[in-house]
Amino acid sequence: MSRFALFLALPLVFNAGCGSESAPGDPLAGITLIGDDLTDIPLHGASPEQVARFKDGDALFDFVFRERDGLGPLYIRAACAGCHDGAARGPGAVQKMALVEDDGVTPAADQGGLPYGHTLRPYAVGGATTVSQPETEATIKVSKRLGPPVFGRGYMEAVDDAEIERVAAEQAARGDAIRGRINRVVFHSKKSGDESFHAFVEGDENLIGRFGFKARVATLDDFTADAYQGDMGITSPLRPDELPNPDGLTDDAKPGEDVVLDTVNAVADYMRLLEIPRRAPADARGQALFAEADCAACHVPSLRTRADYPIAQLADIDAPVYTDFLLHDLGPDLADGLADESASSVAWRTAPLIGVRHSTSYLHDGRARTIEQAILLHDGPGSEAAASVAAFRALSYEDRGALIDFVRSL
Ligand code: HEC
Ligand code: HEC
Repeated sequence: MSRFALFLALPLVFNAGCGSESAPGDPLAGITLIGDDLTDIPLHGASPEQVARFKDGDALFDFVFRERDGLGPLYIRAACAGCHDGAARGPGAVQKMALVEDDGVTPAADQGGLPYGHTLRPYAVGGATTVSQPETEATIKVSKRLGPPVFGRGYMEAVDDAEIERVAAEQAARGDAIRGRINRVVFHSKKSGDESFHAFVEGDENLIGRFGFKARVATLDDFTADAYQGDMGITSPLRPDELPNPDGLTDDAKPGEDVVLDTVNAVADYMRLLEIPRRAPADARGQALFAEADCAACHVPSLRTRADYPIAQLADIDAPVYTDFLLHDLGPDLADGLADESASSVAWRTAPLIGVRHSTSYLHDGRARTIEQAILLHDGPGSEAAASVAAFRALSYEDRGALIDFVRSL
């Protein structure tokens, strides 16, 4: 909330921050903004009603649940903001585990050794037994996923399905290694969220997955309900059941559903209304190199949004998302042994490079400490990005710097 107070105190600065040009007299002109509150602001030109909705959702996103609010029985963190602080990356992470074959990559056919699923749930309320790594003879691969930023996700939800299908078809026709696949997913929520955004019902298939590191979820309300349930033990009308746990508990200290439908929708709307952090004016040389090295083949600079997306500012625009929403194989070193819907162990959604300068570590598990390291780690055996990394390596020192500066300007 303190962040929002700051926003109210600085309206001129934010108005001046529209787009990439700086207005005359902009006190932030030329300053690279790192780690400040500009990650957590509503869309430029938001109406008073949108700002009010944003504030409600922001407060819920930051709200720290307690036992009496329905937290648990098992949980990982007690607030969304615990893993998406200021709508940006981390600090919280999720530990995953999978039973794998001897190659360490292929998921074992029998995952029965993990009866409570693939996620470690290290905290509990009321003395419940947490889910930890089981004792087993089988090979367990443990991996980490760091909470990604959630800003700019309204732009991502608004992108037209036809655009993602077009890019997938263009990649299939390239004839080189780059061949991203759509993760076709099922809608798991028991109810739709806000029906003005989509009319999916439980069991609908063949939806385009967009959210999560493996693009396993199609909409922001579905993701919100999934995160409440999986990360926090908060049930809702969309996900009314507590997840399986060692004590067989089916409820917690708050009987029944822990939050109402509008809470889920308010949090989803907050994320829909989050602006893309202000971008520094792009350096033309860096931008050209980004395209020449084929980074832009996967990190597609912009995709057209649906004309009927209910947030007018996001409808029928070129959304500068720097992703194709497609799954790519970057090699076995990044594999986590997990399959999500149709995504395999080695598959990752192209990371949207929105506001990437606000991160201090990169890739799904944060293993890269610099942008350069993140690029070089795209290059495992058989990686679809191998030629792109080779093109990056072949650049002069200055040109590599210009390309990285461009990425840091996004
Ligand atoms: C314990 C840490 C944790 C908590 C708590 C948490 N998240 Fe996340 N969040 C993650 C991780 C890790 C991912 C990536 C998940 C994946 O790959 O499936 C993620 C992904 C997301 C995404 C998808 C972003 C993208 O780039 O596709 C959204 C949206 C999101 N979370 C919203 C929420 C909301 C809303 C809450 C609270 C209801 C929440 N999260 C709570 C860790 C967390
Ligand atoms: C074949 C598709 C593909 C190509 C080509 C590609 N990337 Fe990526 N990129 C990905 C995928 C997939 C990820 C996510 C990997 C993960 O999370 O483990 C990613 C992640 C990143 C990240 C980390 C972002 C974050 O938030 O953690 C950066 C930075 C990045 N790419 C920059 C580049 C640059 C610069 C180039 C060109 C030299 C490039 N990529 C070429 C697919 C690609």
